[in-house]
Amino acid sequence: MNATSVGAPLREVDDLPSPRGLPLVGNLHQLPPATHHLTLERWAAELGTPYVFRFGTTPVTVWNDIELSHAVLRERPHRYRRYAPIENILKEFGCNGLFSIEGAAWEPQRRLVMQALSIPHIKAFYPTLAAIAERLRRRWEAAARAGRVVDMTGDLKRFTVDVTSALAFGEDPNTLENERVLIQEQLAMLLPMLMSRVNAPFAYWHYVKFPRDRKFDEAMSAVHRYIRELMARTRARMREQAAQTRESAAPQNLLEAMIAMRDTPGSGITDDEVAANVLTMLVAGEDTTATSIAWALLFLGTDDALQARVAADSRRVLGDAAVCSDYTAMRELDLCEAVCTEASRLHPIAPYLSLEPLEEVRLQGVRLPAGTKMFLLNRPAMLDPHNFADPRRYDPDRWLHDQYREGAHEPRAYLQFGAGPRVCPGRHLAAVEMRLVVSMLTANFIAQLATNPADIHEICAFVSVPSEMPMRLVLR
Ligand code: HEM
Repeated sequence: MNATSVGAPLREVDDLPSPRGLPLVGNLHQLPPATHHLTLERWAAELGTPYVFRFGTTPVTVWNDIELSHAVLRERPHRYRRYAPIENILKEFGCNGLFSIEGAAWEPQRRLVMQALSIPHIKAFYPTLAAIAERLRRRWEAAARAGRVVDMTGDLKRFTVDVTSALAFGEDPNTLENERVLIQEQLAMLLPMLMSRVNAPFAYWHYVKFPRDRKFDEAMSAVHRYIRELMARTRARMREQAAQTRESAAPQNLLEAMIAMRDTPGSGITDDEVAANVLTMLVAGEDTTATSIAWALLFLGTDDALQARVAADSRRVLGDAAVCSDYTAMRELDLCEAVCTEASRLHPIAPYLSLEPLEEVRLQGVRLPAGTKMFLLNRPAMLDPHNFADPRRYDPDRWLHDQYREGAHEPRAYLQFGAGPRVCPGRHLAAVEMRLVVSMLTANFIAQLATNPADIHEICAFVSVPSEMPMRLVLR
């Protein structure tokens, strides 16, 4: 019998410890959207695992147990699904793609995306990735020469959007060199709006739109226009190629593969579904990777010795080059990835994963009816000394050795990419982006945080992002 199967009931959800709330409102008033993840973590420390809080009248169970998280994440998509409100809201955004799709439709989409983001595909695409990193370097060089403070999260989002588009759709919007292209800003509005609507006590936007909602609608209309035009160009290119060779060529990227699948007679797939996946990929690859790199800069930009060490290692691998243009050499840049991994251990990009069972389950002696909301907290296990020695210390070296030399090192407690069949398919791409950007930055620039580190705090907008990451760059 596995860890999440049905056994003898001991407790009901209502029996679990709970923070004191108010009638009808539940605990909503104690959960300011931007910092609610911190409150959930504080309650976990006070109440243990599991506990229950209430969004209005809806109970949400909160779990903080690594083995349980792995067991639940493994049993998807058949026994658990993502938190249902995510799918409902993403449908309204025209973004119900691989991240939120459930049931039988998930697997064929997953296969396509896995292929597009596979290591061989990333390897073949690597020269384009390095060229985009070189554009980012030129942008930073211009800022350094002008003595301009760089908004790092903004620039990194430009980088990640250009990379994802070029890799997955064969078109590079070049937001790094074109200030008038706003797609990265429009896309960046989606996750914060998803967060606020998923946690809203009722769907107010169905009745009244505030200025923020109207601005968001306009941004989404622009994004969908952009995607439809991209799809039309791709389809025209595929037809042209087929006319020249008199047969359909093998798809060169994810978008071509999705269009080929959709255009196969009887596929049952619609253009809306293809567009939803284009949007999903753009959003899933933008803030996540940009934020992981940005959090690492908080530590690099305030620790001269660490930065000098990373710079020396990057220079050793890059030689005289400005960016690492060789895929094999890139694999030596472990330290550059480790500074990002370690930053997201302390400042998790995904503070929790939210799910619900599709059937009644009994977990750790608690009966959860189908549809019970479950939040799996990520950070407590990453700050547990049983899992990571001296857990509050920022120490990228702990990721460089199989056996951490100074004590505990439990990589299973690091769930920043999720786990099981729905583990993040973009994790290899993200790692390559981290290595390229951190090596390029440290080899070419001295970077200093241009604000007091104590003023930088976490904002939970579906992913947890730094409130700001301004840096001053000086050419080496
Ligand atoms: C550091 C960067 C990233 C982080 C921290 C991250 C994190 C995550 C997490 C936590 C999940 C949920 C996993 C689960 O439910 O077990 C996920 C899923 C996903 N990620 Fe990422 N991600 C990152 C980068 C990317 C990139 C670069 C892409 C694509 C360009 C991407 C595409 C996706 C997609 C499509 C899914 C849904 C997979 C499914 O449900 O089958 N991610 N990611």
